[in-house]
Amino acid sequence: MNRSGSPSDPLAPDEAAALLAFYVEAGVGEALCDAPVDRYALDEAAAPAADATRADRQAAPAPVAAAPKPAPLRPPAPAALPLDDARAAESAREIASACKTLDELRAALETFEGCPLRYTAKNLVFADGNPQARLMLVGEAPGRDEDLQGLPFVGRAGQLLDRMLAAIGLDRTSVYIVNTLPWRPPGNRTPTPAEHAVCMPFVERHIELVAPEVLLLLGGVSAKQLLRTDTGITRLRGKWSTYNCGGRDIPALPTLHPAYLLRQPAQKRLAWRDLQSLKARLDAGPAG
Ligand code: URA
Repeated sequence: MNRSGSPSDPLAPDEAAALLAFYVEAGVGEALCDAPVDRYALDEAAAPAADATRADRQAAPAPVAAAPKPAPLRPPAPAALPLDDARAAESAREIASACKTLDELRAALETFEGCPLRYTAKNLVFADGNPQARLMLVGEAPGRDEDLQGLPFVGRAGQLLDRMLAAIGLDRTSVYIVNTLPWRPPGNRTPTPAEHAVCMPFVERHIELVAPEVLLLLGGVSAKQLLRTDTGITRLRGKWSTYNCGGRDIPALPTLHPAYLLRQPAQKRLAWRDLQSLKARLDAGPAG
């Protein structure tokens, strides 16, 4: 709220800072104009005008404080997607299948331009943990903290995940963690089918290269993508399924996502059951 209550009055610096803090707290991670702007294509002189929203340009209020123009953190976005979605997915499949090691896969993702998410994300979130582990976890997509650190599950949901793993004697040295998308969707929105079509070939190759003994699928998005089903997580969770990977069947257990458990703590008892089932499977050793 501004001082006079009139929407066109500029905010005082402390009010602007409080509003910004509120937005950050509420999870706002991007500031967008009404129309897309290719900032990399703008020359320095044109940039300030293009920075203003349409309402800003009409009302032209005096700026409260001159914000320094941030240096670009990412490579420039191409003017248009170089490939349509289907061709991007096909290209992803070819590139991913040519990768013979995890280092090659990471390098391929670092230069892959077929997914627009890479241009809004700050970092590639490739994986965390031990690639030799028997258990591989697949989450949904990086959030704000993961995007900032370039590692999966480092925010609040990740801390809960660490506690869940600890409850069955595991930690990040004994599991390997990836997501169905390696870049954060802006504002943590739900990934689109096109984004999954283009990123899943990398996830599938990732699983093939790690060749885990068991998969734990965290949440409905991960379970639906890997088990290729439309069934919801409440029906899938706790039931062992198989993920076929390069001719080999890997036992896969869908469970509730830690972020969901943070919102619905009463459901932790179901997740606990799933963890017990997972532990029993791991304790039984590799299936012959
Ligand atoms: N949620 C996910 O699904 N993955 C992360 O890395 C973080 C939160």
